[in-house]
Amino acid sequence: MKKIVLFVIVAMLCLSGTAKEGMWIPTLLEKYTIEEMQEMGFRLTPEDVYSVNQRSLKDAVVIFGTGCTGEIISNKGLLLTNHHCGFSAIQSHSSVEQDYLSDGFWAMSQNEELPNPGLTAKFLERMVDVSDSVFAGTVSLEGDSLEAKLDANILRIQQQAEEDGKYEAVVKPLFYGNQYFLYVYQVFTDVRLVGAPPRAIGKFGGDTDNWMWPRHTGDFSIFRVYANEDNEPAAYSEDNVPYKPKSWLPVSMEGIQPNDFMMLMGYPGSTRQYLPSQAVDMIINQSNPDRIKIRTAILDIFSEHMKKDPKVRIQYASKYAKTSNSWKRWKGEVRGLNRLNAIKQKQAYEANFELWYLQSDTLEQAYKSVLPQFEKLYVDLLPYDKAYNYYQEIVFKGIDIFKLADFFPRNDKGWNRLDEERHQLVRKALILKMTEYFDDYDQETDQELFTELLRLLRSDLDRSFLPKEFTNLLAKYDDEKLIRKVYEKSVLSDPEKLQELVADFDTKGISKLQKDPVIELYNALRVHYQQNVELVYQSIQDRITDVQQQYMKGIMAMEKNFQLYPDANFTLRVAYGKVEGYQPRDGVEYAYQTTLQGVMEKYQLGNPDYEVLEKLKALHKTSDFGEYGIDGQMPVAYTASIHSTGGNSGSPAINAKGQLVGLNFDRCWEGTMSDIMFDPDQCRNIMVDIRYVLFIIDKFAGAGYLLDEMELVRE
Ligand code: ARG
Ligand code: GLU
Repeated sequence: MKKIVLFVIVAMLCLSGTAKEGMWIPTLLEKYTIEEMQEMGFRLTPEDVYSVNQRSLKDAVVIFGTGCTGEIISNKGLLLTNHHCGFSAIQSHSSVEQDYLSDGFWAMSQNEELPNPGLTAKFLERMVDVSDSVFAGTVSLEGDSLEAKLDANILRIQQQAEEDGKYEAVVKPLFYGNQYFLYVYQVFTDVRLVGAPPRAIGKFGGDTDNWMWPRHTGDFSIFRVYANEDNEPAAYSEDNVPYKPKSWLPVSMEGIQPNDFMMLMGYPGSTRQYLPSQAVDMIINQSNPDRIKIRTAILDIFSEHMKKDPKVRIQYASKYAKTSNSWKRWKGEVRGLNRLNAIKQKQAYEANFELWYLQSDTLEQAYKSVLPQFEKLYVDLLPYDKAYNYYQEIVFKGIDIFKLADFFPRNDKGWNRLDEERHQLVRKALILKMTEYFDDYDQETDQELFTELLRLLRSDLDRSFLPKEFTNLLAKYDDEKLIRKVYEKSVLSDPEKLQELVADFDTKGISKLQKDPVIELYNALRVHYQQNVELVYQSIQDRITDVQQQYMKGIMAMEKNFQLYPDANFTLRVAYGKVEGYQPRDGVEYAYQTTLQGVMEKYQLGNPDYEVLEKLKALHKTSDFGEYGIDGQMPVAYTASIHSTGGNSGSPAINAKGQLVGLNFDRCWEGTMSDIMFDPDQCRNIMVDIRYVLFIIDKFAGAGYLLDEMELVRE
């Protein structure tokens, strides 16, 4: 009895039991979640969601590019994903004269669709639990020989599954290596751009609204997967034809209602639900505040210069978006974890873990030392975590000229081993990289970053983490002198001179560069980091991973009667919840849905984040919503209580009947701690209503012909 009570408390406390938390393995729905899903209204079977023998939803959900999800919405390989997922493809076809980012792009027939070298769509053939084969022959092994055996087993399994290059196969650990799954993909490499709304729709609200509700972004873009005449993956060719998929999602015109069952299928990238209290403490009280502090400094400098100079505004737009995306999420994460009392909750969970261990009959030794080891390891990690974050954010990501410094050969040994032909290739590659770099570089902005961030590095980090060359330099000069002495003297701040130097680059050029003041400074920092930060940081992290694996094993044993889901690892998952709003603060109630009316209300003349195009205003004014509107309103976005994370962008939101009703693109700020701890009260994902997508394609863009190939369902 006591045990049962304990389990219930444990389950309620933290990891499982809360209704909508979880990112589930699609092959295990039968075992874990289908009952609850059906109670909530879901009408399909586990086989309808995932099957290798029959057409199932999984055949319509793909990995789009390297970090997003997409779904197939016609029998001719039409693919839907987010605007921010297609962004770089759209950008690559854009120029000042033909600005698809500002104006949108719509292929009016198949031969106007635009190829995107390097872009892929990966279809999951199958996934299998291969734990037994991975662990085969490892029982008596430890340490390096265990690692080696595991690696060899994994390699063999992958190679077999690849069938001589026909598939891409990857074995990934789940539950910190307590389980392994094999994933086999068919990879399509001819993926063409079909349509994208203008930025004023696809990125409406910009970074201001990012991570926020209420939201009014039409964050979608459309592509098409092409195959060869045998319907197999093939490199781009004019002879390729639209791919005939095994499955595609029917598109519902019916819309959504509060409390409707809602499901996401997709590729959530990474979560950390099973961390110990010490790790959560470190994130709340050190890692996130440090990174937020540095990025606040960066973003302030960005905006100051972007405001001053329209050219800089364009050059730094994407840098700003990238830098601010995580910055804003980290802030929400800290707030959310504190609000949840996350450290206390974890400590209570750990107390129960301890108790469970003492109550168990076997008293497995490994579990006994888990918590004391965490305690010690996180104390050891703390100073290194700080140094690691400062170096990452400042030296390797923050200051642009250091990125440029990293392009060049470090000595002439390697160079001398190459012949003239290869030298020529290297020079060409360097020039290309430099040109790209200078396109998005503003010297004044970067100089200010240089002094501001280096000052932070010196004032906030313990001396032992900094090379002498660096501290001496900073002690000797004030900001202005430092810039002149180091930055302006560097050939790296002079594109023309650098160009010349690289055009007939040789051993002399290499040694000249290595004496450059910026490169010398960068190398001093880089080498000091490698020797005095990274090595130790990594070795502590490795030990933490080992302990975490034991802890996870213990948790799995302790909760064997409960449902556990593995942390996200960019493999296909099912998550579900219901359509609902939330109360972000006392006295405030957020509705579950927004409409086009809100777009008009947010409009601000001259603010690029809240630009509204005349055509959209006109459609709104005349309520010309076609069959996509309802009760005189045009729905735009909505929220549901589904557990999602980065990588879920572009995931289909599927209703109880297995039809597409929305497209996931973000989470609400108050719930961004869900990567570490989920709160059913506050965690909401954000989707574009599919009716808004159809409305924009048809009424706004006049590309309604695309709807003809979709399977629109009206009941
Ligand atoms: N927050 C969303 C996601 O991680 C969207 C990011 C892109 N949009 C933007 N305004 N920066 O990642
Ligand atoms: N925008 C995120 C992405 O690009 C999804 C939002 C989230 O983190 O939940 O995957």
